[in-house]
Amino acid sequence: MSGPLILGLETSCDETSAAVLLAPNTLRGHVIYSQDEHALFGGVVPEIAARAHVQRIDEVVDQALAEAGCALSDLDAVAVTAGPGLIGALLVGVCWAKATAFGLGKPLVAVHHMEAHLFAPSLENADAVPPFVALLVSGGHTLLLHVPEWGVYHMLGQTRDDAAGEAFDKVARLLGMAYPGGPAIEAAASRGDEARYDFPRPMFRRNQRPGDNDFYDFSFSGLKTAVVTLVREIEADRSLDPERDNVAASFQAAATDVLMEKTMRAVEETGCRRVLLGGGVSANGRLREALARRLAPSGQLLHASTRLSLDNGAMVARAGAFRLERGEVASLDASADPNLPFPGLMQASA
Ligand code: KG4
Ligand code: ZN
Repeated sequence: MSGPLILGLETSCDETSAAVLLAPNTLRGHVIYSQDEHALFGGVVPEIAARAHVQRIDEVVDQALAEAGCALSDLDAVAVTAGPGLIGALLVGVCWAKATAFGLGKPLVAVHHMEAHLFAPSLENADAVPPFVALLVSGGHTLLLHVPEWGVYHMLGQTRDDAAGEAFDKVARLLGMAYPGGPAIEAAASRGDEARYDFPRPMFRRNQRPGDNDFYDFSFSGLKTAVVTLVREIEADRSLDPERDNVAASFQAAATDVLMEKTMRAVEETGCRRVLLGGGVSANGRLREALARRLAPSGQLLHASTRLSLDNGAMVARAGAFRLERGEVASLDASADPNLPFPGLMQASA
């Protein structure tokens, strides 16, 4: 039994990506173009991102269709990230998808970017299905969820300030590393000593209780400030060079320890020992290893390969297949929304 053939489009930030998915899980073609235009600026420049999407999108879709050995007319639906993200970047994908769906007379499906990250591991692992506890960590979001079934998302915690990936990007920039910061910090950390500096573990104290409003929440701006202060102290009397890898390793340890500890709280409180990691920061080896160690032997850690952990069209097609199956088709006057609400997200009852 084969499902519909879905084109998934992702243009919310700095990846232009298209995938052809035979629902629910058979990836026929997948192309990801990562814009390198931003490395020079230490972060994504929205205007440049939007223009680069416009320049690439036709070619990226054509390549994905060629890989899949099909034509636009073979598609049954077009799914696109409608938000959250950069408005100019989102609009490129949404306008392209709307025009194509209209031209083909096929349904348009609007996908929430973070729900797409939640579906990514299921493309590669049949076990990556609810119920699970999910930690979604990207450049814009840090969400801790309990997911009893697809489409039902109990919110346990979120960041009060910077997202986890944003903290990696800011610290990397401070240490003179290129954007994106996560992989650069991880590479430097592998050469450094993570016990060299004892950075704070923000919002994490052992005496917090489940009813406390900071029990599950995260905060990364204080940690970033602690790194800034240390770097200034070091640079006041000597070169940062011999300490750079140690600072990166100590920062990575503090950030990933907090992510891991709060996720383990959710595991203990919900009794759900299956954990799903999603979003770009889920590519971090220390985070994966620390969580897998804590969950062993009875728990299970699920995450996508690095390629599908970062932004990609395949996860958009997969989440789109789920929404399409539920009959959730977008109207052709739908638009991109940089603050699109997460569908099915509700506050968990304490
Ligand atoms: O999900 P994603 O590709 O894009 C957004 O939706 O934001 O996540 C990008 C974020 C960036 O902040 C990047 O620095 C971070 O994920 N990231 C990592 C790693 N790879 C990417 N953070 C830590 N360790 C990594 N290996
Ligand atoms: Zn993302």
